Amino acid sequence: MTNHLYIARTLSDDAMGRAHELGLPVVVGVDEPPTRERLLADVAGATAAVVTLTERVDAEFLDAAGPNLRLVANVAVGFDNIDVAEAQRRGVAVSNTPGVLDDATADHTFAMILAVTRRVAEADRFVRSGTPWVWGPRMFVGLDLSGGTKLGVIGIGRIGRAVARRAQAFSMTVLGYDPQYEPGDRVDGVRMLSLPDLLAESDIVSVHVPLLPATRHLIDAAAIASMKDGAYVINAARGGIVDEKALIAALRSGKLAGAALDTFEGEPHVDPELLEIESVVLQPHIASAGSATRSRMCLLALDNVREVLADREPVTPVLAH
Ligand code: DGY
Repeated sequence: MTNHLYIARTLSDDAMGRAHELGLPVVVGVDEPPTRERLLADVAGATAAVVTLTERVDAEFLDAAGPNLRLVANVAVGFDNIDVAEAQRRGVAVSNTPGVLDDATADHTFAMILAVTRRVAEADRFVRSGTPWVWGPRMFVGLDLSGGTKLGVIGIGRIGRAVARRAQAFSMTVLGYDPQYEPGDRVDGVRMLSLPDLLAESDIVSVHVPLLPATRHLIDAAAIASMKDGAYVINAARGGIVDEKALIAALRSGKLAGAALDTFEGEPHVDPELLEIESVVLQPHIASAGSATRSRMCLLALDNVREVLADREPVTPVLAH
């Protein structure tokens, strides 16, 4: 087929309905990630491609799509699955879905903070194990969030600020690092610090930056060593931002009290060592998985398709970095 709208994964019901109103034949992949072979075959000749973070969009993909392709619309705010520079070199626009998933992602980040500090997942596993138990003053004791516990938010963009608001509602002290701001600035009640100062002062460090060459392994062995003993690391951004081997070593040694991960370096592969550690909460990349949020993400991707088909700019274009 040529001049079709290729959709790699089944979208929300409302978005699937909308896709058929855009005036192009629609080729839909499958609910599971398509094989690379199937992806390259189905995208051939497409005018626009709606993809998710499980599809790698690179020179091979763009070659397979061919010269009709005008837009790659990612159903995610992160776009490290796409070689944006290569797309733009070929005149193919790229869009993402910023702004519509901030609250859902911040909610889930906070759920992970609570789950790891108050040992929710661990205690659930304990009850399910059938181990006899009786209430005790030292049982499953975790970290109090209120009363000055310091949350360090790395990346004070939309999602980082939404996480900060939730932490403030829990009476936490919120510290921030973002290269856009100077240490000493205050942003929405967040005291901005240098990265070394944030790492040294925070009880919990949560990352909310895109995965870029500059942010790969931002939380590495040295960063972890500079953190407080007994601190926590939270990652609902992208797997490569935290050096998983260094994290595992710090959890095993007790340097870190815990971690909560929604994303993984080799996703969807999860390092088997992580599965053995009680103090880590593991999630299958679901931070944005509110039903209304997922619908908004899918519809925004299609809004971008509609604009490009009408010879206008995408609503939410991404720029090569
Ligand atoms: C994103 O949007 O980048 C998330 O990781 C998936 O919602």
